[in-house]
Formats: sequence, C-alpha cells, structure tokens
Amino acid sequence: MPHTLDPELRRALAERVRYYHELGIYDFYRREPRPGQSTETATADAGAVPVSLLPMSYSAFQSELREEMPARKSAVVPVIAEDNIFEIVTPRPEYGVTDPVAALKLIREDLGDCTRCKLHKQGRKQIVFGVGNPRAELMFVGEGPGADEDAQGEPFVGRAGQLLNNMIRAMGLQREDVYIANVVKCRPPGNRTPERDECETCSPFLMRQIAVIKPKVVVALGAVSAKNLLAINAPMSELRGRWYDFKPAGVRGSDPSWPGARLAVTYHPAFLLRDPRQKGEAWKDLQMVMKYLGIEPPKKAAE
Ligand code: URA
Repeated sequence: MPHTLDPELRRALAERVRYYHELGIYDFYRREPRPGQSTETATADAGAVPVSLLPMSYSAFQSELREEMPARKSAVVPVIAEDNIFEIVTPRPEYGVTDPVAALKLIREDLGDCTRCKLHKQGRKQIVFGVGNPRAELMFVGEGPGADEDAQGEPFVGRAGQLLNNMIRAMGLQREDVYIANVVKCRPPGNRTPERDECETCSPFLMRQIAVIKPKVVVALGAVSAKNLLAINAPMSELRGRWYDFKPAGVRGSDPSWPGARLAVTYHPAFLLRDPRQKGEAWKDLQMVMKYLGIEPPKKAAE
C-alpha cells in the first residue's frame, strides 16, 4: 500500500527539493527511517543533507507532486526538475562528451531498439528519435509520432508537421535551425495519447537530449508535452502565455555554460488544424519566444 504523506509535509518536502535544485544539487538517495522513528520525524530530521525519507516509490510521489503543483500565475515560473530526484542519478554515456552531435549519437545508441515500454509491441515501425540542429537555440517538443512519422522515422513530417514548418518559417527560421523531438519516441497505436507509464519511461531520453542541445528556449507543443516537461497538471488556458524556467529532470550536474532553458507552451499544430481560429493565439506565443531570442519576424510572415 503506498503511504500518502501529509499534504503539509509533502509541500515542505517539495520546497526543500526546489531549494536543493537551486543550489545545483540533483543527486538524492533514499534512507529508511531509523527503527522506531516515524517518517515525519525522520523527514524533518533530514536537515542539511539532501536526503529523502519517502516511504513510497518515487513515481508515487511524482504522481502526487504533479497533482500538487498547478501552474503558477507569475511571469516566470521555476519548475522542480524532479525526475529521479530520489534515486542515485545513473552516469550516462554522454556525460563529459562536449560535442552535441557525438553526445546525441550516444543517447540514440543507449536507446537502442527500445523495448522499455509496451509501445514497442503495439505496431511501431521504428523509433523516432528527433531531428534538427544539435546546437539549436530553439527546440520544439511534441507528444509522440503519428503514422507519417512512424513511417519516415522523423518527427512532425505529416500534416501537423507541415503546419509546424509554417510556424517556424513565420518566425523567420528554417526547420533545420531548430531541434524537434517528442515526449515518446514510438507511435502510440491509433494515435492515442501516450499513457503515463510510457511518458515516464521515455521522457528521460528527451531530458537527456535537451541537456545535450542546451537550447535557450523549449516550446512545448500541446498539453501532453507541457505536462510531461513541467510535471504540472493544468489546462492549456493556464499553461500558455508565460515563461517557465526549465532544467531537464534527472540529468546530472550543473553546467556553468548553460543555466537551463526558458520554456513556453503553445497549441499543438494538430489542434490548430482542427481549430484554425486559435492560430492567432499560437502566434502570440511564438512572438513571445521571438522577442526573447531577439528574432525579427520576416517582413511578410508565412501563414
Ligand atoms: N504529433 C506529435 O506530437 N509529434 C509528431 O512527431 C507528429 C505529430
């Protein structure tokens, strides 16, 4: 039976984790309470060392934390990078590799012919890793490959991809300038929304890609992407129109050359195809990104 922490204690713990992350401490380990010591006392005791004393699995805590943290109203929202925070962070093959091309290759090799979640046996043709400039200042993150992406092995190549290309061009950029990836790298059957376990299994690879590319801005396309990147549960109306400070969860170490990215949320292109009236709102989101990146829109913006 998972133990549920007292809400106050959980909030205090989340605050403490946030504090450690601000100090650049990402590695945590689990310590059981001493015999006879209550969890609450043990947690309060944790004091100056980055120790978690959670009597439940990390994913259970993560799930509770997601429900706990609605999007905030402030202009720039700090986000707890919370994947794996209660585990020893496993050294990754790309750590210490400074060339992002080589580092991405190592992540791809590590992913291999992935069978980590059930999507591998649900009709995927191939893994869709990501595409674009490994040194991109701007990265777009979608939900998961559809039929066209599954067939071609590249994200956003179908109708939604054509619209994304138009959005990128409207910003005065080319598709080759940015990096594009998804939360899950295998096509969910029938283009269903990826399930939580699939996202939790796959998103560490996305986090590692982001940590290697070190973009200035990540744009989350749609609520599934936003919720997985930010680990917060909120409707699009609350997620959009503001900046979030973002550091990829579960990735070791602080890189002095990269303080993390700013993250903005906008509508998924597939949603915009269904409801083109929202394109103006999406354009506002992209203009916010352009302003931050110092990009002048071309004289005659594309669609
Ligand atoms: N939708 C997504 O979220 N990603 C793709 O790659 C294609 C469509």
